[in-house]
Amino acid sequence: MEKKFKRTLVTCALPYANGPVHIGHLAGVYVPADIYVRYLRLRGEDVLYVCGSDEHGVPITIKARQQGCSPQDIVDKYHSIISESFKALGINFDIYGRTSSKVHEKNASQFFRKLYDEGKFVTQESEQYYDPEAKTFLADRYIVGTCPKCGNESAYGDQCEKCGSTLSPEELINPHSKLSGAEPIKKKTTHWYLPLQDYEPWLREWILEGHKEWRSNVYGQVKSWLDGGLQPRAVTRDLDWGVPVPVEGAEGKVLYVWFDAPIGYISNTMELLPDDWEKWWKSPDTKLVHFIGKDNIVFHCIVFPSMLKAYGDGFILPENVPANEFLNLEGDKISTSRGWAVWAHEYVQDFPGKEDVLRYVLTANAPETKDNDFSWKEFQTRNNSELVAIFGNFVNRAVVLTHKYFEGKVPAAGELTDVDRETLAEVPVLRESLEKNIENYRFREALKDAMQIARLGNKYISDSEPWKLAKTDLARTGTILNVCLQLCADLAIAFEPFTPFACERLRKMLNLSSVAGIAGPQSVGWEQLGATDILKEGHQLGEAELLFAKIEDDAIQKQLDRLAAIRAQKEAEAKAELAKQVAPQKDECTFEEFEKMDIRTATVLEAERVPKTDKLLKLTIDTGLDKRVIVSGIAEYYSPEDMLGKQICILANLKPRTIKGIESKGMILMAKQNDGKMRFITPQEAVVNGSQVG
Ligand code: MF3
Ligand code: ZN
Repeated sequence: MEKKFKRTLVTCALPYANGPVHIGHLAGVYVPADIYVRYLRLRGEDVLYVCGSDEHGVPITIKARQQGCSPQDIVDKYHSIISESFKALGINFDIYGRTSSKVHEKNASQFFRKLYDEGKFVTQESEQYYDPEAKTFLADRYIVGTCPKCGNESAYGDQCEKCGSTLSPEELINPHSKLSGAEPIKKKTTHWYLPLQDYEPWLREWILEGHKEWRSNVYGQVKSWLDGGLQPRAVTRDLDWGVPVPVEGAEGKVLYVWFDAPIGYISNTMELLPDDWEKWWKSPDTKLVHFIGKDNIVFHCIVFPSMLKAYGDGFILPENVPANEFLNLEGDKISTSRGWAVWAHEYVQDFPGKEDVLRYVLTANAPETKDNDFSWKEFQTRNNSELVAIFGNFVNRAVVLTHKYFEGKVPAAGELTDVDRETLAEVPVLRESLEKNIENYRFREALKDAMQIARLGNKYISDSEPWKLAKTDLARTGTILNVCLQLCADLAIAFEPFTPFACERLRKMLNLSSVAGIAGPQSVGWEQLGATDILKEGHQLGEAELLFAKIEDDAIQKQLDRLAAIRAQKEAEAKAELAKQVAPQKDECTFEEFEKMDIRTATVLEAERVPKTDKLLKLTIDTGLDKRVIVSGIAEYYSPEDMLGKQICILANLKPRTIKGIESKGMILMAKQNDGKMRFITPQEAVVNGSQVG
């Protein structure tokens, strides 16, 4: 039996305030959560929607150092960019708090203290890296050195960003502190740990037995963590940015960011509802749902629940944790450091009035069960041939024709034909499927159901051609438009969770007041979806306006050009890196072996391209011994004009070869870089042709 709840608490992973939010975050967490919340609200349910910035952790301190400002400056900046971009996209949390707030510091501190007082932690001494000059412990990120796998000289102690390998500081060659440049030493330090292994049997029962309905990616990850055996997890760090550890003798220590951040969900609720927060967190009638990305699964399914379990005091656990996979961009992994991303705050500037389009495309292509790809071409196609051509076109035809033939008043339904009835009867079926899909966190499928209503309407109006009947049978025209307008009203309801801005425009066109039930001529909510008389006969419509506008090629091209520039830069960097790498020394040779090679100076007399090749030049040279032809693969680097008159070095006694039908006698000596770049060797000062080199 499915449990009935009185209210739903929806949380979204708190984004790190060390950079803006991009489409991967939106598709993974915030758009699906927003659909879910809007849907529940449409149904009149009691929902609290909580998020906020995650403002602690080492990367923020690093960014501050790089930019020569304080960590607080960094989080202030990104907190405002992120919260503005959510608002612009219609993602309206009840509270968007921050973990640097006073309320949070107090709450997280108290949370730790209670567990500490009740002996829920163990302490452990370990050796950590320490900077003897800066006199501070070093997080792995603060140690840089050479990557043992790829030779990158600025690999971090936890990861090499060049080759993507996960590293530990021990593996770095020539490790040094980012702070002082000193070589880190190991020093003993004591930290508090949550003994996760103690919670393992309980976690097994709660999730593996009790939540088999969770998404398979989530369930599977939990299972493999549990099967692998849980370890005590450190909940404190030696760092000067974070919530201070509220214990005597813990100077210089803060709560680990992954300990304090999830408590932030609770703190933010407290901040919003200081007197009423407990009903959202401690009542078994509250359904808690965490929306997160797949990299957060262990923290939300294992660590945070264990913290709450340890704390006791009636805290509820999540009923579900719908975690999404990752979204790629144009075939490549999104990378913040490389700028390979579409940023939410830039999108809303580049595409004003098209917030819904992004919401729609990210949902239609949501990475729910596997990683997916975002491409600008697909974005354009989904807008132009789905939102504009199907949804928008249908609504526009229905409203414009009603203005044309019925002065904008909903015509009488009159007598319905079988087709009319069958068409209308499909909506309740789609509604049921839509509900099931949303309630089970299958938002892509849910969107398809909503879109199916638009397809249905579009087909119905095209097939019944009311514009042709108006002259001969106005009553029939009225019936058809009545059916169409009911479908438009259905769309205004069904699409509200997905494309709220368009639905607001649509409600205005239909002269329906807001779904939230604000007083007006007629207000609609989820319950009317599929009814055959949402719009009553004689109801006056508003003006027709465009629901969606076409996106032209140039807007898409601009985005593609930006990405192409990033790609080109990355390739150039990779090439420069390659060029630096020098081939290892060859096996030894004897002087006699070397002496066999007859290397001489020569001058280029004539040069031309070898027809139908890209790489080859035919050079006629004066070797001092004779005039001969050498075919050389240097056309990528030198034009024939470049070579004319140049003095070069050749291997004169190389066995002749025929290349493209030309006999080539000898070889030009070239310096070759690892990336392929070549330059010919020329004597430092002109010498007589035929001089021996050796
Ligand atoms: N900041 C984390 C991330 O972006 C998410 C924190 S979620 C919370 O991966 F539960 F810890 F708040
Ligand atoms: Zn590497």
